[in-house]
Formats: sequence, C-alpha cells, structure tokens
Amino acid sequence: MKSLRAALVTVALLQTSLAFLFGKEFYDKTLTQKLSLNPGTSESLLLPFNTTRVPGSVSSAKLQSFIRKHFEALQSDWLIEPMQFTENNVNFANLVFTLGRNASSYLMLAAHYDSKKSPVGFIGATDSAASCAILLYISEFVDSIQNEISVGLDELYWEESRGLKIVFFDGEEALDTWTPEDSIYGAKNLASLWEKDGTIQKIEAMVLLDLLGSKDNVTVPSYFEQSDMMYRKLADIKEQNADKLPFKQNLLNVSERKFLEAKRIFVEDDHIPFWKYGIPVLHLIPIPFPSYWHTKEDDFSNLDESKIRTWAILLCELVYDILD
Ligand SMILES: *[C@@H]1O[C@H](CO)[C@@H](O)[C@H](O)[C@H]1NC(C)=O
Ligand SMILES: *[C@@H]1O[C@H](CO)[C@@H](O)[C@H](O)[C@H]1NC(C)=O
Ligand SMILES: *[C@@H]1O[C@H](CO)[C@@H](O)[C@H](O)[C@H]1NC(C)=O
Ligand SMILES: *[C@@H]1O[C@H](CO)[C@@H](O)[C@H](O)[C@H]1NC(C)=O
Ligand SMILES: [Zn+2]
Repeated sequence: MKSLRAALVTVALLQTSLAFLFGKEFYDKTLTQKLSLNPGTSESLLLPFNTTRVPGSVSSAKLQSFIRKHFEALQSDWLIEPMQFTENNVNFANLVFTLGRNASSYLMLAAHYDSKKSPVGFIGATDSAASCAILLYISEFVDSIQNEISVGLDELYWEESRGLKIVFFDGEEALDTWTPEDSIYGAKNLASLWEKDGTIQKIEAMVLLDLLGSKDNVTVPSYFEQSDMMYRKLADIKEQNADKLPFKQNLLNVSERKFLEAKRIFVEDDHIPFWKYGIPVLHLIPIPFPSYWHTKEDDFSNLDESKIRTWAILLCELVYDILD
C-alpha cells in the first residue's frame, strides 16, 4: 500500500508540468483581504482565530461555527462533517470537509485548530491559527477553480478521480503533559474512524501544516522520502517565482536532508496515526520551532503576514497541480 500510494503521488506530479496560476485574478483580488492582519478587516480568514480555542470551550465552539460557515458559503458541493467525541471528560470536535464525495482517492490537507490550555490566554498564532487560515484560503481557491479541475463533477461525483479532504483537528495539544496518550486526540480518533469505514485506504497523501507564519527565520525541511516529490515541487514553485511571491527569503531548505535520511519521526504531530497506516505525509513544520513556541508570545503580533500569504500561494499551486 505504501509504495503504491507513493507511486500514485509521483505519477501525478510527473504528469503535469509546472502550471502556475500566478497572475490569476484570484490571488490579486483575495490575498490582501483574506489573509489580512489589519484589525477590522471584515473578510479576514485569519483574525477570527485571534482567540483561545481550548477543546470544549465556548470560544472553540464559536470558531468551529466560523469554519463551518465558511464552507457553507462556498459554491461547490462540500460535504461538511463535524465529528464530535468525548475523551477524558472533554468534548472534542474534528471538522472534516470533503470535495468529491464519491472519489476513489483523496488528497488530505490538515492543521489543528485547538489551542493549549496553559499558559492561560495562550493564543497559538503559529500553533496553528495561521495554518488554519491558510487551509480556509485554499478551500476558497479550489472552490473558485472547481470547474477547471473537475470536468463533469456533478455527474460523476469524482468517481475514479481524486477528491480533497480538508481537516481541522481538535485536541492536538496535550491536556496536561505531552505523551502519546495525552496528545493528538482528534487525529487518533479520525484515523480510527477512517480505518473502520475504509476511508483510510483512499487517502493518497496527507499534507500537515503546523507552526507556520512566524516572524522567526526558521525553515521547513523535507521529513519523509514518500513525500519528497511533493516537497520538491513546493520548493520549485517557490524558486521559480521568487520575485513574484510576497516573502522573498527561504521557507524551505532543500539542502537539509538529515531528517529524511534518518527514516524516522522527529516531530510528533497529528500525522502519526496516518503515517502508521502507510500514508505518505508532507509535514510542513519548521525546525527549529519558532523561539516563542508554547509561550504567550505566540500571539498575532509575532505573525508575518507576507509569509502566511506565500505559504497560501505555494500550497494552492501544489493542490492545483495534484488535483488537475
Ligand atoms: C488580537 O487580539 C488581541 C487581544 O484581544 C488584540 O490586542 C490584538 O490587537 C489582536 N490582533 C490583531 C492582529 O487583531
Ligand atoms: C455516491 O455515493 C453514495 C453513497 O455511497 C450513493 O448513494 C450515491 O448514489 C453516489 N452518487 C453517485 C453520483 O455515484
Ligand atoms: C534567514 O536565514 C537565511 C540563511 O541563514 C539568510 O539567508 C537570510 O538572510 C535570513 N533572513 C533574515 C531576515 O534574517
Ligand atoms: C539548510 O540546511 C543546511 C544543512 O543543515 C544548513 O547548513 C543551512 O544553514 C540551512 N539553511 C537555511 C536557510 O536554514
Ligand atoms: Zn503546540
């Protein structure tokens, strides 16, 4: 299964040449508004995350409803699945959005929307508010080009074709101290549900965003051989459009190969249960982590808007390339 999936991803990437959408009206019209850090920008997909999002809390419920409404307002026929469960007396909710409900395989994009319980007031701007806003942006992008990438979507429901699943995990953070048991509640729950209903077999690759958009000068290396093609694709897009992208410096580091060569997990995160099923994972998390990781300084004043925009564009291009 592992090698088959890797082969599928590889073929998908080789078949298409680099077809960039830069200059398309979409980015011009939307980037400034949708990923704005300017207080009061009503259309910002980022500002609503400027709040604590502790599992089971009122502010978490508000955020969930913001995310759901975003997908409800899109034009395509997104399947909306809030998946609630209770563990350790805490009510968690993963949010899963699917385009192409009868597709035979899926690209999965994910980030966690919950925030750490302590320190009290912790916002988690890079952990992972920015990543969630990027996912919302990608959903809008895919929605806007839906006709282009899925001829006959309505008749075929993407049967025999690729679909997209965008997942917002709850309960990534430990409730107390990080252990395999006390962490990634949402990811473990979803992977086990998907094992039971067969969905797990259809996940061709997972792209996990975490700790993105910080002001710190940190880069994301390639972590896994199975996803290195996708990683290189991102790096190519970045390099070939260096002058057009809002953030000019490095976001990736293609010469950092030690994590990939070690063939093991260095950073524990929501991908673990999916990785264990053999799903190729593109883990987009910088190393080292931002210097204010898990402190109250991980707030919106430490976000870099141009970085967030650049990640959004790069990932839109990657998704377009895979789904096209
Ligand atoms: C985020 O929220 C804090 C506290 O409410 C506020 O002081 C700050 O201005 C907000 N940041 C942005 C970018 O809106
Ligand atoms: C999609 O799948 C559902 C449930 O498996 C089925 O009821 C429906 O007819 C399918 N739709 C198409 C267009 O194949
Ligand atoms: C970030 O680090 C890279 C490599 O060390 C360097 O080329 C770049 O100029 C740095 N950027 C900033 C803003 O410090
Ligand atoms: C990339 O990784 C290499 C190898 O570890 C390192 O020497 C270099 O400083 C890194 N560059 C950036 C921009 O982080
Ligand atoms: Zn965290």
